Amino acid sequence: MLEVIILAAGKGTRMRSAIPKVLHKLAGKPLLEHVVATARNLSPTKIHVVVGHGSEQVSAAVSGDDVTCHKQQNQLGTGHAVAQALPQCDPASTVLILFGDVPLMSAKTLRNLLASTTDAPSVLAAHIPDPTGYGRVIRDAHQRFVEIVEEKDASEEQRAVQEVNTGVIAAPASLLTTLLSRVNNQNAQAEYYLPDVLGIAREDGMTVNVVVSKDPAEILGVNNRLQLEELERILQQRLAEKLLLDGVAVSDRRRLDIRGELTCGEGVSIDINVLLEGDVTLGDNVTIGANCVIRDAAIGANTVIQPFSHIERAVIGTDCFIGPYARLRPGTDLGSAVRIGNFVETKNSTLGAGSKANHLAYIGDTTVGEGSNIGAGTITCNYDGANKFPTHLGDGVFIGSNSTLVAPVTIADGGFVAAGSVITKDVLADDLAVGRAKQRNISGWQKPTKEEQ
Ligand code: UD1
Ligand code: CA
Repeated sequence: MLEVIILAAGKGTRMRSAIPKVLHKLAGKPLLEHVVATARNLSPTKIHVVVGHGSEQVSAAVSGDDVTCHKQQNQLGTGHAVAQALPQCDPASTVLILFGDVPLMSAKTLRNLLASTTDAPSVLAAHIPDPTGYGRVIRDAHQRFVEIVEEKDASEEQRAVQEVNTGVIAAPASLLTTLLSRVNNQNAQAEYYLPDVLGIAREDGMTVNVVVSKDPAEILGVNNRLQLEELERILQQRLAEKLLLDGVAVSDRRRLDIRGELTCGEGVSIDINVLLEGDVTLGDNVTIGANCVIRDAAIGANTVIQPFSHIERAVIGTDCFIGPYARLRPGTDLGSAVRIGNFVETKNSTLGAGSKANHLAYIGDTTVGEGSNIGAGTITCNYDGANKFPTHLGDGVFIGSNSTLVAPVTIADGGFVAAGSVITKDVLADDLAVGRAKQRNISGWQKPTKEEQ
């Protein structure tokens, strides 16, 4: 039986932010959410989160029946933090302690640690070239674990040790309770240090298992924005590498950002400087051009998104051709083989199969049937300053360039609107609507001449 305690009460002063540290985002998700997800991977019976600074915001951000938050009123140290949750743990369980600001810890490493936790506590260590700021793992002449010494309490000799405490500790709950009750705050920071339980266990004659992490990135914590950016780059690179190995043609793994859940079919290619946010699904053979931003969208097979397009909460069918410079706003729903060209904006609109708006148009609150053509410069006037109104275009409709469709208005199947029209009345099937001033040509007209001064 496993219970996980995640420490997340710290302020994160060095982030210089009003947002609690563990709620800063990594790959679009709060740091804490990454840790909770890793914990869930281990199938614990319960997850406890110790909250303090910004406790209401942090508690609100973690959800699930399996998660309980415990408030640590004052931040008196990691040992004190664990003591807030430990009484709620089943004494018969094994407790695993994680930090809310160490987001890349892998479930695999944690499983290794748990496998070596018997009736004595175990700790996850790492070997790093620059151990500054970490607690050091002190071993005896036989390489047996002795204690963890915090940097601020360490001697010159101890500071040279490159084996550090990652902060991750596992122990039987009842043993941890006893050990923790013996931890005092007589140290450089006047804090109750959680790792002191390991030294006490060893003094009692127990063998503390030290498991060494093989991945230097997974132990990294976030204390400032520089470290957050470093972790973001590491994670993005890993996500891109995974996509490449899964067969997605990513042009440059350093120039792709995924902030959410991406699902890709076969034969997908993604060019440089693409940002994918929220839930994005790309069907087979979808091509995403350079510099696109795509958020919460599903794109059908064989569709090409040309460079510099911006797509949000849209559904795009198969074989479409979008952009460059297209803007598909929320509620856009495109059938198959639709073409949306440069500087066309769509919002809350449906376009049927084969319909086109190839240049410079605004299509809002509109339904378009199949095989219709919307000319350059067409605007649906869906808003009168107070209310919004719909526009309906049937199948095979042709809207001449630079037309203004004043909603509510309907143009039935086969309706044809002459270029430059302002359409305020419905157009019946197959009718031609001309809504523009008649052209007059005046012969013998005299150009104005410059007046003599
Ligand atoms: C801690 C370890 C150190 C280890 C390092 C790894 C201790 C005393 N030291 O140091 O050995 O090398 O992590 O990153 O444990 N927290 C609370 N309540 C508190 C204090 C801390 O919830 O009263 C939380 C913080 O929000 C954070 C985590 O515990 O998520 C670690 O605290 P932090 O102050 O960052 O510990 P370090 O000094 O980094
Ligand atoms: Ca830390």
